[in-house]
Amino acid sequence: MSTWKDRRVWLRALTWDISQEPDTPLETAEEELKRFMAVYQDGRPVVLETIEEMGESYRLSQEDKEYHITGGRTGILYGAYALIQALLLKKSLPEGVQAPCYPLRMLNSWDNMSGEIERGYAGRSLWFEGDAFSYDPARIRQLGRMLASVGVNVISLNNVNVHAPAQGLTDRLLPETAKLAALLRPFGIRIMLSVDFSLPLQRGLDTADPLDPRVEEWWKQLADGIWEKIPDLAGFLVKADSEHRPGPNAYGRTHAEGANMLARAVAPHGGVLVWRAFVYNCMQDWRDSSTDRPCAAYHIYHPLDGTFEENVILQVKYGPFDFQVREPLSPLFFGMPNTRLAMELQLAQEYTGQQIDIFAMPPMWRELFDDLGKERIRAVAAVSNLGRDDCWTGHPFAALNLYAFGRFGWDPDTEVDALIRDWIRLTYDFSQIEDEDALARVLQESRKTYEKYTAPLGLCWMVNPNNHYGPSPYGYEFQAWGTYNRADRNAVGIDRTGNGTGYTDQYPAPLAGKYADTDTCPEELLLYFHRLPYDYRMKDGRTLIQRIYDDHFEGCEEAERMQDILEKLPLGEDTTEVIERIHRQTDNAREWRDVINTFFHRLSGAEDEKNRKIYD
Ligand code: GCU
Repeated sequence: MSTWKDRRVWLRALTWDISQEPDTPLETAEEELKRFMAVYQDGRPVVLETIEEMGESYRLSQEDKEYHITGGRTGILYGAYALIQALLLKKSLPEGVQAPCYPLRMLNSWDNMSGEIERGYAGRSLWFEGDAFSYDPARIRQLGRMLASVGVNVISLNNVNVHAPAQGLTDRLLPETAKLAALLRPFGIRIMLSVDFSLPLQRGLDTADPLDPRVEEWWKQLADGIWEKIPDLAGFLVKADSEHRPGPNAYGRTHAEGANMLARAVAPHGGVLVWRAFVYNCMQDWRDSSTDRPCAAYHIYHPLDGTFEENVILQVKYGPFDFQVREPLSPLFFGMPNTRLAMELQLAQEYTGQQIDIFAMPPMWRELFDDLGKERIRAVAAVSNLGRDDCWTGHPFAALNLYAFGRFGWDPDTEVDALIRDWIRLTYDFSQIEDEDALARVLQESRKTYEKYTAPLGLCWMVNPNNHYGPSPYGYEFQAWGTYNRADRNAVGIDRTGNGTGYTDQYPAPLAGKYADTDTCPEELLLYFHRLPYDYRMKDGRTLIQRIYDDHFEGCEEAERMQDILEKLPLGEDTTEVIERIHRQTDNAREWRDVINTFFHRLSGAEDEKNRKIYD
């Protein structure tokens, strides 16, 4: 029986525990390099030189008889891991100074203090259990190593939905919080805490109104006390006026007024205030077709552009819905030029296979970052996919997404195929290049495959309500969440152009025009933006309904082919999880295929041109 200690994710070659307790990133770098070079044995020592002003950046060079790493306080550690990875991958050293594109690269844990993880698919929390802290320090250091090796520098500990007793992390449980922060500090990782906007109410004030001076003073004192214990705390993360969480709206105040008040409390300590923009009406009447959920965030935040304090970061999910398989970029990324933005990704595969089905995210992120242009945001965040399971991410291949998140945060121009291959080589010990090629192809194609057998062409939300795994085409249709496909016997989708809900008008040109016109709208997003009849002609001449049927048959066949490939790969200790999960994935794919095809067949009455089996 293997334990987490045998499972070292992509740094498989680093087989030792970081047993000494390093105090600084420099000490971590020294220990890692000493142990690595003893095994690697190319006879060259590594000379480290710290230049404080270099901060997180570093430079690597190779002289005749030694390697040199010059870097700032954390840069020196990033340089050490970069050298180790370059040597393992047999790559030449990167030239010139290496610096991260985004100063904040944040992992958001959705861990509850009960030990459960909201939308967690890899077991229980790594640090909470039974309403208390509970962790293995060696494992936390191993986590630090993993995150530092790809440059993640902030981790929020508790769920954005702050449930009691997590409020205590900021006072009663503060000494314990500080201890965990101390364990991660030598890896250049700072912690962040999610806070509840109504906390003053729970601590004896009769209001949480952000414009009440007593409230502002209360938060200031709280922040002073926290930063005294954790001087490098990164800041607070807030989900407010979202899905029943308390917020400034209860007092008739705007999100800027709410965020700015908190921002002023943390500013003297160098903290940031991360405010999530995931705000919409989750009590919508499904009969009301004038309200359209994707429009909501732009309506709320665009008028507030330029009014946030300097240390506020508005954290925006990549798409305007909620981490769906395919969404266009949120229009907020284009509509807030005077606000610091973070893009929020979701490594936890809530809607993308729950770490059972394979869904490698880098191809999707490549598209998102290409549409975005890297300078529109200042930070990246991702909902964590980690948990206490031995293999950390439930599905061993889900570790690729964590690895890739760090790499994209450092360099959003990262090339996907090279990244996937780096991860494979650092993770597995394949002796045949054919095996690497086969796995790289499976991972590259995995999102397309998943997309084909689930909701068609950007339609979203055809998942089982609540748990979000498996098909349920009308599961969210008559609910309050604003998640409708409005499929009937003639047509499917919602018209989000100027003739419909007007959502496409939130984009600047040329995107607005591109999405609004069925001729130029990417076909994968056709039903995100348009309501179309089943006999609508796709570019290749097929009808829409035929394309839906074809995608579902193909997606399922592709999943079955993946299974054949994976059954032959030498995956070592990962074999059990991978094989068990690919069987569940192919079952899931067949279920999706049959439910979706039957649903549309019953509605449209259209026969499959290829006469394949559709159930009635
Ligand atoms: C999704 C998810 C919730 C989560 C929310 C959020 O809606 O299902 O569990 O709380 O996103 O991002 O806050």
